[in-house]
Amino acid sequence: MPSVGEIMESMEYGPATEDPSAVRDWLTARGSFGHFIAGRFTKPVETFVTSDPSTGQPLAQISQGTARDVAKAVRAARRAARGWGAMAGHDRARFLYAIARTIQKRERFLSVLETLDNGKPIRESRDIDIPLVVRHFYHHAGWAEIAATEFPGHTPLGVVGQIIPWNFPLLMLAWKVAPALAAGNTVVLKPAEYTSLTALAFAEICAHVGLPAGVLNIVTGDGATGAALVEAPIHKIAFTGSTEVGREIARNLAGSGKKLTLELGGKSPFVVMADADLDAAVEGVVDSIWFNQGQVCCAGSRILVAEAISERFETLLRRRMQKLRLGSPLDKSTDIGAIVDPVQKTRITGILDRATAAGAELIGGQAQQGCFIAPGYLRNIAPANPAMREEIFGPIATLSTFRTVDEAVDLANNTAYGLAASVWSESATVATDLASRIKAGVVWVNCANIFDASAPFGGVRDSGYGREGGREGMLDYLSAPTLTGVKDPQPAAISAVPDGLTKDPDGIDRTVKLYIGGAQKRPDGGASYLAQDELIPIGSRKDIRNAVEAAQGAVGKWQGLGGHGRAQVLYFLAENLALRRSEFAGFASSDEVEAAIRRCFFYAGFADKYDGATVSAKPGHLTHVQPEAHGVMGIIAPNGSPLAGLLSLVLPAIAMGNTVVTIPSQDRPMAALTLAQVLACSDVPGGVVNLVTGPRDPLGEALASHDGVNAIWHAGQGEGLTVAERAAASTLIPVWTPPACEWTAPEAQGRSFLRAASRTKTIWLPYGA
Ligand code: NAI
Repeated sequence: MPSVGEIMESMEYGPATEDPSAVRDWLTARGSFGHFIAGRFTKPVETFVTSDPSTGQPLAQISQGTARDVAKAVRAARRAARGWGAMAGHDRARFLYAIARTIQKRERFLSVLETLDNGKPIRESRDIDIPLVVRHFYHHAGWAEIAATEFPGHTPLGVVGQIIPWNFPLLMLAWKVAPALAAGNTVVLKPAEYTSLTALAFAEICAHVGLPAGVLNIVTGDGATGAALVEAPIHKIAFTGSTEVGREIARNLAGSGKKLTLELGGKSPFVVMADADLDAAVEGVVDSIWFNQGQVCCAGSRILVAEAISERFETLLRRRMQKLRLGSPLDKSTDIGAIVDPVQKTRITGILDRATAAGAELIGGQAQQGCFIAPGYLRNIAPANPAMREEIFGPIATLSTFRTVDEAVDLANNTAYGLAASVWSESATVATDLASRIKAGVVWVNCANIFDASAPFGGVRDSGYGREGGREGMLDYLSAPTLTGVKDPQPAAISAVPDGLTKDPDGIDRTVKLYIGGAQKRPDGGASYLAQDELIPIGSRKDIRNAVEAAQGAVGKWQGLGGHGRAQVLYFLAENLALRRSEFAGFASSDEVEAAIRRCFFYAGFADKYDGATVSAKPGHLTHVQPEAHGVMGIIAPNGSPLAGLLSLVLPAIAMGNTVVTIPSQDRPMAALTLAQVLACSDVPGGVVNLVTGPRDPLGEALASHDGVNAIWHAGQGEGLTVAERAAASTLIPVWTPPACEWTAPEAQGRSFLRAASRTKTIWLPYGA
């Protein structure tokens, strides 16, 4: 023990350890945990140990869930679904409210349990994780209360399977369970194998507040248990974890009809401009990459600093880094706790070894005894260095420099991920310019890693799809009102007419063409098929590639027009369609033509009105939820409705600022090919709508596997949908199946289409702070 005099001299903190005795008593009393199914704990059979990573000491025995356990939990959830889904929102709200209250009463207990099981500093579990859990349940109690009026006609999905990681065990549970229950679904949740204890304590809380049996079920276990849940008869999987596993789940779910949201990894940029408040930015780094030992999906793991201030920034950064205290997670003055498990520690040090072998310089970041790694960063690091691309998931950032704003944006977007970004500049113009150009689901301006239950969270590209939190998060747990269903007819088989037989006897080439980049194009393979008494070009993979390139080339100009500009184009299109009614007469019914014209007016009217919202997240911030176009969309249009069906999908997509590559009706493609001529004379810029005719399923697969496509809409079910979903799983492109409906009906339009044509970006701006 140092003397008082020595302490006064060094000004070092003494140890201030949180008392774990209540948690230890609870663990001793429980000893070994079963699953929580139908309102009670099962008897443990096969178990594994869960340990405190800071000491290696065992904490408890946890059950390894089998496929039978999962099936039992799903049965319980199915039994409970009807009653829970039909319950008045107010009654569901009371349960969520009671859960929030009880967690609040047990905040200290849950913080200590989380810290023991995960290794995170008690300061974080006490001040960040558990208060956010409480906030999440209160917020969603509110949604349950008002759901009937806020989401009219929407219904719960049924049983939801949820798989969560170990980095924020109880918080990730709350992010998933609260909206699912508020929306009227029942849940089977699988926590991560390293950190199941707070989920099991949560199960006790649910039993304590009298949540009806089967509404929440928890099955513990490893990846095999998770895989069994994916296979089970549930209606949706919500997954948070690695991109690799997310991709595998998407592949396994292809063609199953189950909904899927994925919150995956990230390699988020942290951009410091020359005019930034450097002291604040350094604190931002602490909150970004040295929070939770860097085991954060949205960690600002790639620091990009303006060259002009990089030296000064690094000096400040090193000084701050040296002050961080690494040690016992239960000590209230610890900043850096333990890595969750030796496996993860080895993974991190492996990446660091490869990074330094490839020439990077590691500052700090030394591995210590046990599960500890000191905070650090990699400098002098080449763009191709593995640590620039791979998620390190430890307390180590990369640091590189840039000279111009454009270079900063290019570097920020030079990653397969797109989860979050943090940008630092005292210029509102520069900061918001960066926020709009960086590809990410969440952007923090002059702040980092702030979360709130009302602020949607989620990514783009390899970071997944779907949102958690706020209105958007609720909609991901609800079914939109159903339309009068009409099954889309499967197309007839195509038989190709070889090139050379495509001319009329008078020798004039009359073949209709594909429509790519605003021009009529002969198909690459030259062959045609006979439909509607015409020779229709058979598009190929190459034509799809050309069409995607044309669509990519048109995105900037089309989005640059803004909502008002796009509305003008759509009004003009409506007028031209109306003028040329007679040209469509032979190819589509008059109902189809009239519905198509009306739809043009409808989406012209909506083009500047599907707006974002500013949500009440935290004082001192404007938290803006902005709908953004996906970019290039692939649309496999209905086979049975050649004009109204096609335009019911193309119009909301382009109204939102997307450009599209569309595969028209296979059996009746002539309406689409006639439409091409109307598009050309209606000021729709070349490349905004591209039409590739031919066999739907192979063309759909080619579209869904093209990494330049950002979203797929597939009308109709069947093998074609399965193939497209499987292809899209590899590129992690979200696939939406529009409702089966009568496409000429007035209700085959509206907000649900515009929502699917966009995704949200949540932008946190300091405001009056
Ligand atoms: P993981 O993706 O394997 O585990 C996440 C969850 O998925 C766990 O509950 C696990 O049991 C479950 N799971 C594993 N395989 C599954 C399967 N085939 N089917 C269904 N569920 C399955 O992540 P892991 O191995 O724990 O960590 C590896 C890396 O993943 C980390 O180093 C980090 O880079 C990344 N990661 C990202 C997270 C995020 O929040 N985005 C969270 C955890 C890990």
